[in-house]
Formats: sequence, C-alpha cells, structure tokens
Amino acid sequence: MTLRPRSSAARRILAATVWLSVCGACLAASRPAERARSAMVAGPEPLAVEAGLAVLREGGNAVDAAVTMGLTLAVTLPQAGNLGGGGYLLMRAPNGTADFIDFRETAPAAARREMFLDPNGEVIPKESTETWRASGVPGTVAGLSLALRKHGTISMARALKPAVRLARDGFVIDRGLERALAAHAQRLAAWPSTRAIFFRNDKPLQQGDTLTQKDLGMTLSRISKAGAGALYSGDLAQALEREMKAHGGLITVADMAAYRPIERAPLAGSYRGYGILSAPPSSSGGVGLLQMLAMLEPRQPASLGPASSAYVHLVSEAAKRAYADRARWLGDPAFFKVPVARLLAPAYTARMMAGFDNERATPAAAAGPGDPLAGEGAQTTHYSIVDASGMAVSVSVTLNDSFGCGAVAGSLGFLLNNEMDDFAARPGAPNLYGLVGGEANSIAPGKRMLSSMTPTIVTRRDPGGAEKLLLVLGTPGGATIITTVLQVFLNVVEFDMELQAAVDAPRFHHQWLPDVLQLDAGGFPSDVVEALRRKGHVVETRPLRGDVQAIQRDADGSWLRGASDARGYGVARGY
Ligand code: DON
Repeated sequence: MTLRPRSSAARRILAATVWLSVCGACLAASRPAERARSAMVAGPEPLAVEAGLAVLREGGNAVDAAVTMGLTLAVTLPQAGNLGGGGYLLMRAPNGTADFIDFRETAPAAARREMFLDPNGEVIPKESTETWRASGVPGTVAGLSLALRKHGTISMARALKPAVRLARDGFVIDRGLERALAAHAQRLAAWPSTRAIFFRNDKPLQQGDTLTQKDLGMTLSRISKAGAGALYSGDLAQALEREMKAHGGLITVADMAAYRPIERAPLAGSYRGYGILSAPPSSSGGVGLLQMLAMLEPRQPASLGPASSAYVHLVSEAAKRAYADRARWLGDPAFFKVPVARLLAPAYTARMMAGFDNERATPAAAAGPGDPLAGEGAQTTHYSIVDASGMAVSVSVTLNDSFGCGAVAGSLGFLLNNEMDDFAARPGAPNLYGLVGGEANSIAPGKRMLSSMTPTIVTRRDPGGAEKLLLVLGTPGGATIITTVLQVFLNVVEFDMELQAAVDAPRFHHQWLPDVLQLDAGGFPSDVVEALRRKGHVVETRPLRGDVQAIQRDADGSWLRGASDARGYGVARGY
C-alpha cells in the first residue's frame, strides 16, 4: 500500500484540530480530579453533564444517564453530539456482565465503491467531507433507544426532556462552542439551513449569545412521543429523503427503515492482570488498544519514565505496527472477515515486535502490516458514567468532523455527519485523519465505515479475587483516539499518576502512515525530542487532539474520581 497524500490533507487535519487546540502551559497545570462517594459523570459539556447527573440523583442508572446525555449533547454540543451521526456504547453491570451497542452509521444503499473518485481514479477533494453524499445513515437515535430498552429504567420521553427544553428554550453559548463555530464558520456558512441556526447577521454566534434550535426541538419531541421509529419511518424519514435528493445526498426512506443498531460482545483482553473491555469491530479501537498493550507488556514500560525518549520510542513503535494492521485488516465484520483472534494472538503480536530496536525507529515500510493469517491457515465526543450501584457506561458519539458535513438537514433541524470519509475512498488514499485503508474498509452499500473510537472499561481483581471496576475512559481525536486511550491507561496503571494528571499529561502519536511521530507541542523537553530524532523518528510537534473523559474507582471502592481533559471545555461532577 502506498501513501498518496491528498494535497489538502495536511491542511484538513490541521483544520480538524482547531476546536481542541492545546497550549503547552495548560498541559502542565493539572488540577486534581473531582471526587465523589456515590456516582460520577465526566463529559465534554457542562449542561449535558448536569442533565446526566440529575437522572442519577433521581435514581436512574448509568445507562439512563448515558442516553439522556447523548440526546442532550445533540443540542448543547452540535459539533459532535448528534441525532444525525453514530457511535458506540459500552456498559458493564456491577455483576460483571457487559454489553456493547454498535450504532455506527452505514453506507446508504446507493453508495458505490468509487463514489468519491473522479474518472481518472483520483479522490475528489472535499467530496467525502463537505457534501450531502458524505453522510452515512444515522444510528444515534436507534442505538440510544436500544440501550434504554435493554438496560435502562426510564422512558425515552424522560431521557429526552432536557434536550427538548434546551433546544426549544435555547441556552447560552460557552467558549468551547464559540471557538468551534468560529473555526468552522466558512464550511458552515455554505448551507442556508445551517446559517439560519448558528449565524446572526452573517456571523457565527458567540459566547453569551443564546442558541435556540426550534426545528431540532420539534424533531426531538416527535421522538419523545413516538419513540426512535419516528425518525426512521414516516414523515420525518420522508422529509430527510426529500432534503437528500434536493442536495445530491443518497439517504432514502428505505435506508432509514433498514438501519439497525447491533448488540455485540465487547472485546475483552487483559494487561498485567487488569481486565480490559473495549470496542470490537466495526471500530478498530479495541483491537488496536489490545494489540499495543500485548506488544508493550513484556517490555515493562513502567521501568521507563513516562516522558522519556525510551518510553515514547517503545510505545510509538508498537503504535506504528498496530496502525499498519488497522489499515490492512480492520473493517465492518459483516463485509470483511476481520481476523480478530489472530491479530491478538500472543505469538502474532510478539512476531510484530520482533524487529523492534531500542535505538532505531523501524521505517513504516518495514513495520507491516503483518500477516496474521500466515501459518494457521481502521468531531467526536466521549463521556463516562458510573452510578451508585457501580454500573459503568462509556460512550463515544460522532458526526466525524466537527459539525459533520456542516449541513443541517432542513426542517429536521439536525446536522448531518460526514462519516463516509472514514471509508478508504481508494486503497492508500488518506482520509481526514491521514489514515489509509484497503479492501477491508472499502465502500459498500449497508457497510459500516471503520472507526477508531475506543470506549473502554478497565477492571482489576481485588484481594478476594473479585473483578472490580477500575477505570471508565474514552476520547475524541480521530486517528489519535486509540493511542490516547492507551497512554491514559498506562499513565494510571504503570506510572501511578493521579487521574487528572494522567488525562492532562502530554501525549504522542504514531499511526504508521504518515511515518511521523507527533508530540504534544511544549510537552516534551528538547533533549527527549533530540534523542527521538537520533533514533530515526521524523518528529513533528503540534497540539495533539483529544478530550478524554475518565472516571476511576479507588482500590477500596470508597471514592470515585472524575477527570475531564484540560484540553477541552468539559467537567466531571459527582455526588
Ligand atoms: O469514527 C472515527 O474514528 C472518527 N469518525 C472519529 C472522529 C473524531 O474523533 C473527530 N474528533 N476529533
């Protein structure tokens, strides 16, 4: 597979990072984590966190709070929270049973393998990100509704209450949304339906302005009265099809009717005795996380300092190998046989690291992908919740880019995703995040595009041998999601960092291609950067994306700690 950079790729990666930009100083200044005795919510936006917490205080469980927050974020965090996108929900009950709900978007029936290529086979710039054709069939409402039916105790109408009120009555815009709107103003201004909601006098709304979303409020109250079906059939689905047709989009009434969220077994693994539950395919997150952990475990990262060149080198070499496998082997399991067990087999991950050299970076071309089949025959937001019973929920939802494709779906009032860009438009053509892919993640009707989202729950054995909750975590950040979850986990279990410090610590990222080691700007001393360059890494410093929302349970179970990333505008609150 060759990397053929799209001329605008670097610019687009940069653009996608703006809303979560980081200053070196805020990385260093870490506040302590929020602490509470009974329950905790960590999320990217304070109004949604309060909405989730209110449900918990009323006696609702963590899934009730998660569904309420997901729907509230569709109103208060329009850059990523959504009705028009998709995501994943991972839950673990106090008795250890766990469930995973995949509500990733699907390619519409009219989608074609080469739909983003011109007659010469070249990728058409912006076609998979800034058009209505960029939109996959939305899964969020169906997925959250299924989660509530399976594991919740409250009605959809109760879960929708704060969302309906905030959409109809409006809320005051904070700094986070102001910055996001300003950063994406040009793209959003292209659509009258979007301008009508998010702009005043041709300027994006600002901190202190009130954002009112009447049409979205109508759609939400329809769902509140009739359930998720109100969006997937009848006049709302018909209105979506009409808008799609008028704007060159592909989604039809039949696509909406055919959409199904999928309940899957969470991907389970372990690291030094810790139990790890994470996202199975259609995400690449859990496989990537467990592959990297398997490559690192025998090399004892705790013996290296968390900001040392030896540690950054070791972890980035593992990441390079795991992301090479992602590009080759990961995709929707309904369309491509993803060899999960073989990718995670200890002999295989050991073989992947066989060429690891303490002193030299392995060039990308020599780092894989591997062949796990030999011998024996791929703007998001995240929130984490723990309720008073110990039920834990880890949810990532996304429109892909901030505000998705930028277009509001007419009278439905919600923003459309541009998740189709998460497919490989052509083998080796980098997407918004510079990620490449091939057959496994090619476009096909009904197929889920490969994700990097990594909602994760970590357990440990107590002295009596019982498996107890330790961590609930996840983050946005495109390609960097998997390496971010990995690093926060290692900061806690290997370097014994306080939770907020573990979340705020400088991060680094390698994704195989481009063959570049990204370091958080201002996060690493110059001697470490120089040592990494001497080992052969092409080092770039930039603000790394991410907005981790994490909860930790103390060893004796007496406290919960909640940490919301200093890079973002979220909060952790408990009681
Ligand atoms: O599913 C994925 O991997 C991407 N669509 C996630 C996008 C994302 O994290 C954007 N946030 N910074």
